[in-house]
Amino acid sequence: ASLELGPYSHFMQKEIHEQPKALSDTIEAILDDGFSAELFGAAAANVLPTLSGVKILACGTSYYAGLTAKYWIESIAGVVCDVEIASEYRYRDAFADPQHLVVTISQSGETLDTMEALKYAKSLGHRHALSICNVRESAIPRASDLVFYTRAGAEIGVASTKAFTTQLVSLFALAVTLGKVRGRVTAEQEAQYLAELRHLPGSVQHALNLEPQITAWSAQFAAKNDALFLGRGLHYPIALEGALKLKEISYIHAEAYPAGELKHGPLALVDENMPVVVIAPNDALLEKVKSNMQEVRARGGELFVFADADSHFSDSDGVHVIRTPRHVGVLSPIVHSIPVQLLAYHVALTRGTDVDKPRNLAKSVTVE
Ligand code: G6P
Repeated sequence: ASLELGPYSHFMQKEIHEQPKALSDTIEAILDDGFSAELFGAAAANVLPTLSGVKILACGTSYYAGLTAKYWIESIAGVVCDVEIASEYRYRDAFADPQHLVVTISQSGETLDTMEALKYAKSLGHRHALSICNVRESAIPRASDLVFYTRAGAEIGVASTKAFTTQLVSLFALAVTLGKVRGRVTAEQEAQYLAELRHLPGSVQHALNLEPQITAWSAQFAAKNDALFLGRGLHYPIALEGALKLKEISYIHAEAYPAGELKHGPLALVDENMPVVVIAPNDALLEKVKSNMQEVRARGGELFVFADADSHFSDSDGVHVIRTPRHVGVLSPIVHSIPVQLLAYHVALTRGTDVDKPRNLAKSVTVE
């Protein structure tokens, strides 16, 4: 291992473990000054009050950060938000409301499809664009009037990890800031959101400490050809991200579904050969998720559940449970990103793939 890797075997593992620091760095300015428009650039104080909606454009893992943000933006800021894959958007006759903010999400800031989607959105009449980006002065932030830089540091592993969770926290900050500008988030709520942010790096560290338990699961996955990931609400995009990570680096076919959709198709795939990963924190949808889990068990599917202490799950026949310490509320998707990253990493290690450079993939795709 190179000096740069320190105690880690791969950049991906190192970057997974850097997340408490990456998140602390990214939220530092927010903890110091609160959710102020200036976080998003000098022009933001004038721009944010004029907006009536948000359109998010991104690719890959960054697109899943966008899907999560939709839940926060609509519930916290109370504005409509739609999320689109950049390579699709750029080639369709899209409807453009000039007062809808275009938000691009890109770790590299150089992804061609995202860049072209941004140009296209402007050509259709969108007046303002915010870039959430990890690389300073890259092409996409340069083409945007508003910018928020994630402070994940250089990400080398092709499969994105710390860039994803720092994107999430930035998008959460956008939702709260928009809500504040619109008079929807009260001072009391703002204080509550700040308190939740302050606890986030510690909660992520707790999730990282689950690594030995997740490693113990990995052998069971390594022998399978397929896996299904389930989540609901805010955690559905995390299920998507978990399935993507597993595909990218272990080459196991994986799909994600919102758990309520099981009965409309994927339940037909479930048998003892199909491990089913469930993201089941103690939120308003927990009881629904539990009944979805029973549907899986009744068909012989083996369940691997990421819950939290408040979900009151325990191991039983065909049900394996790993618990994060406590439910962290609205930031729970960020904490639950950690176990799905670790699972993909350890399954890939067991299968002996090239974790940091998976076949056929590139870190940044600057061609079409
Ligand atoms: C590539 C990478 C992914 C990344 C996607 C978008 O496919 O392998 O990890 O999510 O590009 O990249 P971006 O830099 O725009 O976030």
